[in-house]
Order: sequence, then structure tokens, then C-alpha cells
Amino acid sequence: MSRTRVAILISGGGSNMLALARDMVDPGHPGTACLVLSNRPDAGGLARAAELGIATAVVDHRGFADRAGFEAAMMAPLRASGAEVVCLAGFMRVLTPGFIAQWTGRMLNIHPSILPLFPGLHTHAQCLAAGMAVHGCTVHEVTPDLDAGPILGQAVVPVAADDTDETLAARVLPLEHRLYPAVLRRFLAGNRAPLALFPEG
Ligand code: GAR
Repeated sequence: MSRTRVAILISGGGSNMLALARDMVDPGHPGTACLVLSNRPDAGGLARAAELGIATAVVDHRGFADRAGFEAAMMAPLRASGAEVVCLAGFMRVLTPGFIAQWTGRMLNIHPSILPLFPGLHTHAQCLAAGMAVHGCTVHEVTPDLDAGPILGQAVVPVAADDTDETLAARVLPLEHRLYPAVLRRFLAGNRAPLALFPEG
């Protein structure tokens, strides 16, 4: 079985990247992690990826005058890695339609809200401000509209009366780590029907 080469783009600690990469250690997985690419040289996920034996690269966005230049520079390591699918995992740069067009139907993102609610930043605060009873995360295909591509999977958690941004984020993150690998496996096997996950226990 030939395995799909998956590049993972990160900006920070990379816990979602690790969840994906650890799942792909399974030789029966339909994908294999070919590259972890960060726009930040200090991203903690880089060392964690290297420990797993995954190739890493840094393209620092601060070195470029515009998004197009930054994205053109990212294409070099992506092409060299043979990436066929790209997973955004806590990658905090907005991508241009031109870059996204090169990965149509082949780029996934995880977002910490039940989309289409609360796109963009500060999702946990947005959820609390709206007085929601539930919150969660979404894996979706990336399209030029921010956080608006076809939904591939969602997980939900309850919101507690005394929740803060931090406690809510801490409740959502473990579900992100379950949802993203589960969705990637299905996606690579050709299944794009949305997956629903609920808290365990
Ligand atoms: C995750 O909660 C992810 O959903 C979120 O950033 C965090 C990254 O954590 N992504 C976004 O907000 C994208 N707009 P990680 O680096 O530990 O995976």
C-alpha cells in the first residue's frame, strides 16, 4: 500500500501535530508524516517532531515583505518533501487564495470552535461571551474563505458555569487530539462524511 505523504504546518507547541504524527507511526495508517514546517523558528513543536524522526523546516514569515513571498518560500520545502496533503495544526498565518488553490481538496485545518460559529481568533472567549452551553472543535477542508471550508468532523464539550477561556481551551484540546487523527485517517481513505465525536465517559 502506498501511503499519502502528509506535511503538517505549525506555529507553536504542536500538540495537534504530535497527535497526527504519532498516529501516522502506525504502518497501517494511510498517511505518513513527511515534513513539519513552522513559520516560527521558536515553535516548540519542531523539536518534538525531530524526536519522532520527522523532517522539519522553518520559513520565518518575518523575513518576507508580503504573504505571497512567504508562501512561495514555503512551497520549496513542501515540494521537496513530496507532500500530497497539508494539515494546518495551530498554524496561525492567514493563507492567500493563490496558495490555497495549489492545495484544493488536499489541505485540512483544525479550528477550536464548532464552525460556522466563532471563526477567527479568541474562540473560547467568543463562546463564553455568547453564553453557549456547548463548545468544541472542527476539522475542515481549507478554502479561500477563512474557517469556512467543508466540515470533515466536529467534537463537542459542555461549557461549565465557572469556565474561563483557559479551562474551556483545556477541555477542548484533548478532543482536538482525538478528532484530528480520526478525521485524517478517514480523509486519506476517501471518506469525507463529517465525523461527530463526544467527550468520553
Ligand atoms: C489549537 O487549539 C488549535 O485548534 C488552534 O491553535 C491551537 C494550537 O495548539 N488553532 C487555531 O486557533 C487556528 N486558527 P497546538 O500547537 O498545541 O496544536
